Amino acid sequence: MIIMTGNELRNKFLQFFKSKDHLVLPSYPLIPENDPTLLLIGAGMAPFKPFFTGKMKPPQPRISSSQKCVRTGDIENVGRTARHHTFFEMLGNFSFGDYFKKEAIAWAWEFLTEQINLPKDKLWITIHTQDDEAYHIWLNDIGIPAERIVRLEDNFWEIGPGPCGPCSEIHIDLGEARGCGKDDCKVGCNCDRYLEIWNLVFTQYDRDEAGNYTPLAKKNIDTGAGLERIASVLQNKPSNFETDLLFPMIEHTAQVANVTYGQLPKTDVSLKVIADHARSMTVMIADGILPSNEGRGYVLRRILRRAVRHGRLMGIEKPFLAPIVDIVAGIFAEPFPDLADRKEYIKKVIQLEEERFHTTLAQGLELLTGHINTLRQAEKNTLDGATGFKLYDTYGFPWELTQEILADYDMELDKTGFDLAMKEQRERARAARTDVESKVILPDLSQLATDKLSVKENAETAKLVLLAKEGNVVNEIHDGEEVLIILDVTPFHAEGGGQVGDIGQITGAMGKAEVLQTRKLPDGTTYQLGIVTEGFLKAGEAVALTVDGSRRRAVARNHTATHLLHAALKTVLGDHVNQAGSQVGPDRLRFDFSHFEAVTPQQQTELEAIVNKVILDNLHVGIIETTQDVAKEMGATALFGEKYGDQVRVVMVDNFSRELCGGTHVGSTAEIGLFRIVSEAGVGSGVRRIEAVTGFGAIELVKTHEQILSEAAMTLKTRPEDVNARIDTLLSRVKELEKEIAVQNTKLAKGVVDELVANCLQVGTLKIAAGQVEASDMDNLRNVADLVRDRIGDGVVVLGAVSDSKVNFVVMATKEAVAQGIHAGNIVKAAAKAAGGGGGGRADMAQAGGKEPEKAAEALKLAVEVAQSQVK
Ligand code: ALA
Repeated sequence: MIIMTGNELRNKFLQFFKSKDHLVLPSYPLIPENDPTLLLIGAGMAPFKPFFTGKMKPPQPRISSSQKCVRTGDIENVGRTARHHTFFEMLGNFSFGDYFKKEAIAWAWEFLTEQINLPKDKLWITIHTQDDEAYHIWLNDIGIPAERIVRLEDNFWEIGPGPCGPCSEIHIDLGEARGCGKDDCKVGCNCDRYLEIWNLVFTQYDRDEAGNYTPLAKKNIDTGAGLERIASVLQNKPSNFETDLLFPMIEHTAQVANVTYGQLPKTDVSLKVIADHARSMTVMIADGILPSNEGRGYVLRRILRRAVRHGRLMGIEKPFLAPIVDIVAGIFAEPFPDLADRKEYIKKVIQLEEERFHTTLAQGLELLTGHINTLRQAEKNTLDGATGFKLYDTYGFPWELTQEILADYDMELDKTGFDLAMKEQRERARAARTDVESKVILPDLSQLATDKLSVKENAETAKLVLLAKEGNVVNEIHDGEEVLIILDVTPFHAEGGGQVGDIGQITGAMGKAEVLQTRKLPDGTTYQLGIVTEGFLKAGEAVALTVDGSRRRAVARNHTATHLLHAALKTVLGDHVNQAGSQVGPDRLRFDFSHFEAVTPQQQTELEAIVNKVILDNLHVGIIETTQDVAKEMGATALFGEKYGDQVRVVMVDNFSRELCGGTHVGSTAEIGLFRIVSEAGVGSGVRRIEAVTGFGAIELVKTHEQILSEAAMTLKTRPEDVNARIDTLLSRVKELEKEIAVQNTKLAKGVVDELVANCLQVGTLKIAAGQVEASDMDNLRNVADLVRDRIGDGVVVLGAVSDSKVNFVVMATKEAVAQGIHAGNIVKAAAKAAGGGGGGRADMAQAGGKEPEKAAEALKLAVEVAQSQVK
């Protein structure tokens, strides 16, 4: 065995594979390029995925590297075992359709046993249960005794979707003293005795998102050897943490905490956690990750805050992490020289994040300890989600940190409850944001030199002149916070003249904000409203600006189309048309105008035709700044009641339209693509409103209509072009059927009438025809009553009909009956009352309703009695 530093080992490995015709590449950054399936690079092969699958041609079929990796799956084990890390370097040699098992195995063996002289008899091999090929190579070519080749079912390597395959691992037996001492301790045991130092993956498959494994056209090799692990073996250290790659951080922190390494297991864990996490955070920040509540930023935040907590466990009460960056950068000077250049920046990010957490950490811990005691007394072991969320939201505890602290007491967090609380808060925040957007509290801007500010459509960089939070000017603003930003030069177009403001991003050296609104102060100064999504922004710093260009183009299309519509309306409806309001967004435009009647469908078609012709004629859209007088002379349309300064901006669509306008427009009309009216309606007296869409919105609308038509055609079992004919046929059929039904009804009614007439009651010279009939409404009931009355000579008709949980009554009396004392109104009144209703009417004809249909028969009986009693 040769004693070597980490740097020497890394070099030796890369040199060795260079001698085997490998192209040695530097480590890729931690942020994966073009790979949405991975948050962070976690294996040497990850940047090479397209070479394995054959999607891209590698620069050479053999590559070797030492890759920076971050994995957080085992974060709780960091510091507790000798070998787990969040950050580590993976030494690897890769073959893309070139050599395979035989060479990969032989070279791994040669490197370990001849280059760094590991004792052969201490090396153990694992292979996949079914991999006889690997078995024979190890047994016959290399000469490993059969009893040291172990077949394991889970020797199959994969990391998310992508290239994968069976693998063979090399483990070194570090001796009983390093083991767990259990009888069944053997290769694969979780303890530190058998240390896996090399993994050979025989990459033969491509796994998709759904979990299907497709054999790759070519067989590949992907290997990974942990630099820190092999270093620990060569340096004869009990763990990775004592190697020259990590120990300097432990020494430094022990000094800061005033503790001695190797005395208390608990303290050692904390020192190791800090050493490991310091490397992760340094490299992550160097690679462009900033603390935030999402994605990679959250991983960084979680690691950093976990380190802070471990500092606190050792009694470190003040921020202490930033200075460790110097040590990390020193150790990494050889493989990652650029760390040194970014040192100050990295330290600043760490310092600010740490300071931020420090202000709430103590209180948060106190709160959590209180809850742990309460739970313990109540003999419970689950912390409710709401408290976990409070720790997250108010005290900045990543939920995993809370969970970890609870685990020390054999307790756990109700994660479902936590997620729920998080979801509720997000919804509240969303609602509040729309609220906030409408009532912004402006900070004191008296010190702002507004004459130095400008708007420049294509500006890509600017200075943050002012930052404000909740109405107060601030120097810094952090992720998660809402912010008002003023830039010295802004490309963001402010909301105004009915047009929505631009949105986009502002990126500083150490943070990023999402611009959600752009507005203007009364003096014309543009300000941006947004939310910091990553790291922090600092007043005075230089920032990069990105406007959401596709949204801006959609707004421009709608705005120019609004001018075209305005001009077309004057042509089609007349000169009385004047703009009464307008709203231009990315999705649609809304135009209100003076006009006294609905715009007919034909007129709408005409409007669309005019506007679309102008679009297809591809007229140039010119913008000039001039005086009001000149603009007037040019015949530019101005808005009633709008105040314009002396200088005005005129938007001209060739000779078709001229309007005073400060908005965003297309360069020429063809960019609008297509114009479609969506709706026309009245809004108040003399004002109509047209809503319309352009560009993608119009295409979407056409597609929707097409969809509706084809669904209708499908329902009607015909082709789209025959839908109208089919509807006509169906409608005439409906009419025929209605006629038939009417005939049937008349026949039915006739039968009913005959029966009523036949069963009349004779009172003196009068006849009383009464009964319950079928009639869907009062009109029908009256019709039946008419028929009966016409057939009885002198007398009275009393009918009732139940419909829709109601009962209707109609009473009709002939002239002679009225002369003899009959009063239809009074009869119906009595009937309705008996059926839970009311009503009345004239002596010869009356109708009424009741709410209790079940009493209909009884009510009719009563009505007949009343009629009888009325006869003089
Ligand atoms: N890609 C394999 C690993 O990470 C070598 O273990």
